Amino acid sequence: MKTTLVLSGALLVLAAAPALAADPALVERGAYVAKAADCVACHTGPSGVPYAGGRAVPSPFGDIYASNITPDPKVGIGGYSLEDFSRAVREGVRKDGAHLYPAMPYPSYSKLSDDDLAALYAYFMNGIKPVANEVQTTKLAWPFSMRWGIRFWNLAFAPSGIGWPGDANAADPILRGKYLVEGPGHCGSCHTPRGVAFQEKAYAGSDPAFLSGSELDGWPVPSLRAGGSGPGLPGWSDDEIAQYLATGRNAHGAVAGEMSLVIAHSTSEMKDSDLMAIAAYLKSLPAAKASGAVTSGDATTKQLTAAKLAVDSGARIYMDNCAACHFVDAKGAPPAFPPLAGNTLVNADNPFGMLHVILAGARLPSTPKQEADMAMPNFDWRLSDDEVAKLATFIRSSWGNAAPAVTAAEVAKVRERVAKENREPSSGPVFTDP
Ligand code: HEC
Ligand code: HEC
Ligand code: HEC
Repeated sequence: MKTTLVLSGALLVLAAAPALAADPALVERGAYVAKAADCVACHTGPSGVPYAGGRAVPSPFGDIYASNITPDPKVGIGGYSLEDFSRAVREGVRKDGAHLYPAMPYPSYSKLSDDDLAALYAYFMNGIKPVANEVQTTKLAWPFSMRWGIRFWNLAFAPSGIGWPGDANAADPILRGKYLVEGPGHCGSCHTPRGVAFQEKAYAGSDPAFLSGSELDGWPVPSLRAGGSGPGLPGWSDDEIAQYLATGRNAHGAVAGEMSLVIAHSTSEMKDSDLMAIAAYLKSLPAAKASGAVTSGDATTKQLTAAKLAVDSGARIYMDNCAACHFVDAKGAPPAFPPLAGNTLVNADNPFGMLHVILAGARLPSTPKQEADMAMPNFDWRLSDDEVAKLATFIRSSWGNAAPAVTAAEVAKVRERVAKENREPSSGPVFTDP
């Protein structure tokens, strides 16, 4: 189909002569593209063998098992030609002609440049070992079980804003950043709100819905539109955005939830120039909300240090449990301890993520640039639903923070979820009860 026509002459030679594909420089470049595209995130299953597949990627229609994409000839993609590979990655069509579910982010990958795609292919064919791991078959309920239906989904939803292929080698950082974010980085798959058919509402920055924030399994996913003024990213400098992507922390906050994995596997491994390009592009997207004036936090700090605090007040619970690391002024001590004043997670309308961090704790990823992984202790064993609700309400309305109050019933729900999750055994409480 179209693919063949668009592939450049050099690529066709490559496809015909696999010996060429083993060029170490090309394989290395492909490894970098795979990092930027975070292929490992979904294609690594419970066995933990990279790319051997088997991870259940959740969708509203049921779990979809990610394929084995090692070059195993039988159960992997060893039999894929460059053209087959391009069709799967950029158009969502498997070698046997079946359509892939959009749990595989091909609408974003459709923007991968021919050169990056060829490098990626060289890497998967030559840079990783075949693994004979047979992946469980995806079984969705009818009508979603019928893969041909995806064709209509593609026609209806995927084409909007998809330019193919993207401009990978632009000298202008904004354009390079646009390529990385809209293409391989597939940032929109979490940061863009979904529509009725689970489609991302936009696939390009020109649409104000693109990267305007969403929700992932209950956890608030912030807007990445960083231009103009207002709470969140508009208040971060380009350097601070790049620092967060490299290390998971900066002067404004620390990463928790699914983004920790994105940073650990993908962005922390990217070149500084690419992270700066991503920042430049995000800064070029005007933020939706205008400034919600952030007031000074001094009043709360004074109240905390001067007044006698009621024993069961949110303020008192904060002083007893949190101030040691996050400080009386809630400015923390970044990069070790994130600030809670002006923090995006704390100020999200939806309190799920914040409550999850308080109850379950959180651990920063170890990255090449910042090794030490600091941990936030879990407080589920120490604080009741009522106490957490008072505490969270206090934090969300102090030091200039302005987010809705939290009820004990909301905390109870998150506690239930946390209890069901497979958590790493905690390093043990940092406090001993008096
Ligand atoms: C967000 C999760 C996710 C990411 C990231 C992802 N994939 Fe996938 N991929 C999937 C899922 C799920 C399937 C299976 C879909 C189905 O069965 O319809 C799949 C299927 C595939 C297939 C089809 C193989 C076959 O024959 O079944 C290929 C090839 C593939 N992915 C390559 C890649 C590459 C290369 C990358 C990185 C550039 C990547 N994927 C990133 C989720 C993902
Ligand atoms: C798998 C889902 C997922 C993907 C893919 C993803 N993110 Fe995120 N991102 C999140 C979540 C969830 C958060 C909130 C983290 C928190 O609460 O600490 C977040 C937070 C962020 C933040 C911090 C914003 C703030 O105001 O605190 C930045 C910056 C960011 N992501 C950039 C990116 C970029 C750039 C990409 C693409 C390269 C990307 N993300 C891809 C889920 C994702
Ligand atoms: C021993 C030090 C320590 C104590 C005590 C502590 N924290 Fe933390 N906290 C951390 C560290 C380190 C992080 C960063 C971990 C991460 O985000 O993965 C963090 C992260 C957070 C975050 C997420 C911030 C973000 O940017 O996403 C919130 C919210 C939070 N803490 C609230 C609290 C509250 C409320 C208390 C008291 C009940 C508390 N913390 C007590 C060390 C601490």
